[in-house]
Amino acid sequence: MRGPHQLEFRETAQSPRPRPAGPPGFEHAPPDPDRVLRPGHEGNRWRPEAFAAGDPAARERLAARVVEGGLAVHDTLREQLVELLETREPARELEPAELGERLAAHLEGAPLAHHGTWFLYPWSRRVVHVLPEDEFRELRASRNRNKISSEEQERLRALRLGVIGLSVGSASAVALAMEQVGGELYLADHDRLSLSNLNRLRAGVHEIGLPKAVLTARAIAELDPYLRVRPFLDGITDGNMDAFLRPGGRPLDLLVEECDDLYVKVRVREAARALRIPVLMETSDRGLLDVERFDLEPGRPVLHGLVGAIDAERLRGLDTSEKVPIVLRILGERSISPRLAASLVEVKATLKTWPQLASAVSLGAAVVTDAARRIALGQLTSSGRFYVDLDELVRDGAGAALPGLQDPPPAQVEAACAAAPAPVAPMVVRSRAALDAQRVRELVWLATLAPSGGNCQPWRFSWDGKRLRLVHDAARSRSFLDHRDLASWLAFGAAVENVALAAAAMGLDAAVELRPDPGDPAAVCDLRFAATGGAAPASVVALAAAIPERVTNRKLAPRAPLARHAHDLLLRVAAEVPGAALHLVEDPERLAALGEVLGRGDRLRFLSRTMHREMMGELRWSAEEARATRDGLDVATLELSGADQAGLRVMSSWAAMELVGRLGGGRALEKPAARAMAAASAAGLVSVPEHTREAYFAGGRAMQRVWLQATVLGLAFQPMTPLTYLFARLASGGGEGLTPAEATTLRELRGRLDRLFPDARGRGEPMLFRLAVAPPASARALRRGVEEVLEVDPSAETRAGPLRAAPFTSATHRRAG
Ligand SMILES: Cc1cc2nc3c(=O)[nH]c(=O)nc-3n(C[C@H](O)[C@H](O)[C@H](O)COP(=O)(O)O)c2cc1C
Repeated sequence: MRGPHQLEFRETAQSPRPRPAGPPGFEHAPPDPDRVLRPGHEGNRWRPEAFAAGDPAARERLAARVVEGGLAVHDTLREQLVELLETREPARELEPAELGERLAAHLEGAPLAHHGTWFLYPWSRRVVHVLPEDEFRELRASRNRNKISSEEQERLRALRLGVIGLSVGSASAVALAMEQVGGELYLADHDRLSLSNLNRLRAGVHEIGLPKAVLTARAIAELDPYLRVRPFLDGITDGNMDAFLRPGGRPLDLLVEECDDLYVKVRVREAARALRIPVLMETSDRGLLDVERFDLEPGRPVLHGLVGAIDAERLRGLDTSEKVPIVLRILGERSISPRLAASLVEVKATLKTWPQLASAVSLGAAVVTDAARRIALGQLTSSGRFYVDLDELVRDGAGAALPGLQDPPPAQVEAACAAAPAPVAPMVVRSRAALDAQRVRELVWLATLAPSGGNCQPWRFSWDGKRLRLVHDAARSRSFLDHRDLASWLAFGAAVENVALAAAAMGLDAAVELRPDPGDPAAVCDLRFAATGGAAPASVVALAAAIPERVTNRKLAPRAPLARHAHDLLLRVAAEVPGAALHLVEDPERLAALGEVLGRGDRLRFLSRTMHREMMGELRWSAEEARATRDGLDVATLELSGADQAGLRVMSSWAAMELVGRLGGGRALEKPAARAMAAASAAGLVSVPEHTREAYFAGGRAMQRVWLQATVLGLAFQPMTPLTYLFARLASGGGEGLTPAEATTLRELRGRLDRLFPDARGRGEPMLFRLAVAPPASARALRRGVEEVLEVDPSAETRAGPLRAAPFTSATHRRAG
């Protein structure tokens, strides 16, 4: 119902007009939709025009505009005034007669229509009659009392605030305006509203394409036409930064920074720090709020020092991949929510950019407004990082205790079960004589330079003066991929091959007895040494000399074809181990197909809880960590770009990966294998007749020869094994521990790999790797010291062995690590 004070209200939407009557026989032509439905030019106006209601000339001008423009007129001044008068006397219910008297007294005889201000909103074609500024403010803040006292509200209204970045900051700016925290608002954003912004930015579909600064300024003008707002439609630039931070020569009281340009983020903080302006940033993930009190701490490093010593200039024009690690450093790779982490993995794969929710943005606006108010009122003085994490605060089991209600039973925790090791059968090769302890230390050192899965170094050695025993240190190798210890036995084979080659170079023959002690299933083999009586062939000496040089080289470089003689040499050294064979793929198309298959395996590994945990357990995130354990994978050896390293940190969260899996994502996890294969000269597969430890031991010897030969040839060698070890689990363990979905995927991939390596079909696959021409590896994996892994019988220490061995030619090489 319209009251008598609602003078006019005209619909601005076109109401259907009666059709003019045409001559009989002629139909009126309907409008051509293609001509009518064209976009008009709306412009960027954001400031309402004010007309003083008490000024007759202003009212005349306004009336003319209403008639000309067909504007809608909204006049609820009487209601506004009545509400004001009622709030001034909250303890009383005013009778209608009393109210009439109060109104007349308030207006001092002037008509209602002459009171206050008319505002014309050109973008919505409305004129609105509101109370004069002081009354408007009083009434609009009346429901803030006593959460905010009148005196506090006055102080808050005197504030001048800046908001940069309005995708997220728009909600903050509007909340600040609503709460009357700030009497002047400076808004900066160069971007325009898109449809996808509407998931978190309160705007209408008719506003798509409008500058975000304009639509925010309009929203504020609509809720408070008296507020002073200044939008900066170019966003923040070097040219306008000072004008933004210091309007009229006086610094802002507070800055809310929500932009995604790293340069601006840092630069604007540097400037704010110089001007002693406190800065707030809300990140719409886990309710993360950063408070930087540059007003109180003018020496404080920007962004809490999280970006390190990077100055703003270096952040100019970074591309997304360069920005990601820095952004993650600011947010804390391990502190972001699993959902965001899972999403970051998908950016540029299945997502265009990272997601932000209206709930989080609205919460952010609340958190920012609350913090701004309390900072202004001296109730919050510290800088720092705060989380208003709804997942943490509002979750099952976290509810406040309510009398009379019982807690729900605790959730069931799944127990993990480990497979029992298979029994070990003895197998004898042959035995010989003894060697001195010092030479043995050298041989063991060379043995430990062998590769092992995740650099777990699953070995121990003992020397009793006659035989060198290699023992499986099972606690170091227990892993899902080391099914039935096959990967460990491959590593043992490689270590023994090192010893055998080095011994040969020293003029010794090393005899290997596998599983020498039926009473000790951990004993892998005994080695006994005898003089050969002749010099080792040059090819053996060359392989031995390469032992300390051999490294896993994961560097990527443009593909170069494998030279014919390299191809032949590699096949030959592998074939020297009975039972083992090397298969090479060099055709780029087949390599690409292999990259795809291996990528699927990598994805499967990342998305399996057990394998993910084990993989992350292998990683050493810093040189200090790597030095502390001298095992595992130092991330520096992974040859990752800054962005990929940051991505790996994100992926180190199981919660994130679990979500990726649940949402059917993770394609990005397949990419590194594809990239690696695109940069490969060849892929090699060492195959053995069966999936037994002995066969994998032989495979390890063959692999080591191939790897050393590749080192001699200057080729980069990188194992790529998760998939083949999962196949081993499928082949010899019946897929135990795999989910049905994983087993199905693996069976499909099994077929694809068979087509790529048809000669290896049905055989054990101890080592799948890629060869490449690439620069030297950036870093080396460390090894535990010989003293940690070798136990020497004290009686063997003093006894000089009957064998005299020539020094190992490579002993002067730099020790690995
Ligand atoms: C059984 C086995 C599996 C391996 N799998 C991979 C692999 O999938 N990806 C990779 O980059 N390195 C792999 N490696 C290489 C090891 O991580 C590497 O040998 C170890 O970290 C020691 O480093 P080094 O080879 O440079 O001495 C594997 C090594 C072995 C023995």
